[in-house]
Amino acid sequence: MFCWIRLEYMFNSDNINVSDVDDHNWQDFQKLTNEVLHSNYPEALFNDCGARKHLIHFSKIVKVKGNVIAGAKAYSVTSLSGVKNSTSNIVPLATYIETIVVDNRYRDKGIGTYLIELIEQESQNCFTPKIILHTPKNNTKVIKWYLMKGYRIQNTVEGYYSATELDSKYSPDAFLLEKDL
Ligand SMILES: CC(C)(COP(=O)(O)OP(=O)(O)OC[C@H]1O[C@@H](n2cnc3c(N)ncnc32)[C@H](O)[C@@H]1OP(=O)(O)O)[C@@H](O)C(=O)NCCC(=O)NCCS
Repeated sequence: MFCWIRLEYMFNSDNINVSDVDDHNWQDFQKLTNEVLHSNYPEALFNDCGARKHLIHFSKIVKVKGNVIAGAKAYSVTSLSGVKNSTSNIVPLATYIETIVVDNRYRDKGIGTYLIELIEQESQNCFTPKIILHTPKNNTKVIKWYLMKGYRIQNTVEGYYSATELDSKYSPDAFLLEKDL
């Protein structure tokens, strides 16, 4: 496990902190994500702090000297099994990583690793030993990063990003990546 203490040491513990996304900071997370991905993801994707719709609802930001420099959002996806209309039979199928971004200036310091390991830990704590995510097919460096972390390419989803306002440098086709924990 990548250690938070190592990051605190690297940044001087007073300068770095991790916190939940809330009503006061979701706009900073939206701004960072759209800057990093050159996208135009809407408010609705970030401003759902009060509404816990999923068994696993992970939404965190990392700040350095008060500025949001990284963030990640993930939630559980469920499948209905067994008896019809019985909510007790809703079982988590996997944890879906919707966003994980680190400001360019803070890459390669272990912050992304810290966030993805937090998500994996949370998923395991909730008895959901699978993580899934989409990423553009040509997001080569990031795909390599996921492969290094034990993720594997499960599928290609053609046109997955067609309806999304994502930078045109990204392929509209996505890889579905997954990892069994
Ligand atoms: C993917 C992403 C989140 C990774 O974040 P990161 O903080 O740079 O990740 P890490 O620092 O943990 O790991 C990156 C590399 O640094 C290395 N590293 C980790 N800790 C390190 C440290 N303390 N010192 C130096 N290098 C370190 C890792 O081994 C890794 O090596 P690699 O370059 O061979 O892959 C980041 O690149 C990003 O925001 N990309 C753009 C957004 C994006 O596409 N997100 C995914 C959407 S699905």
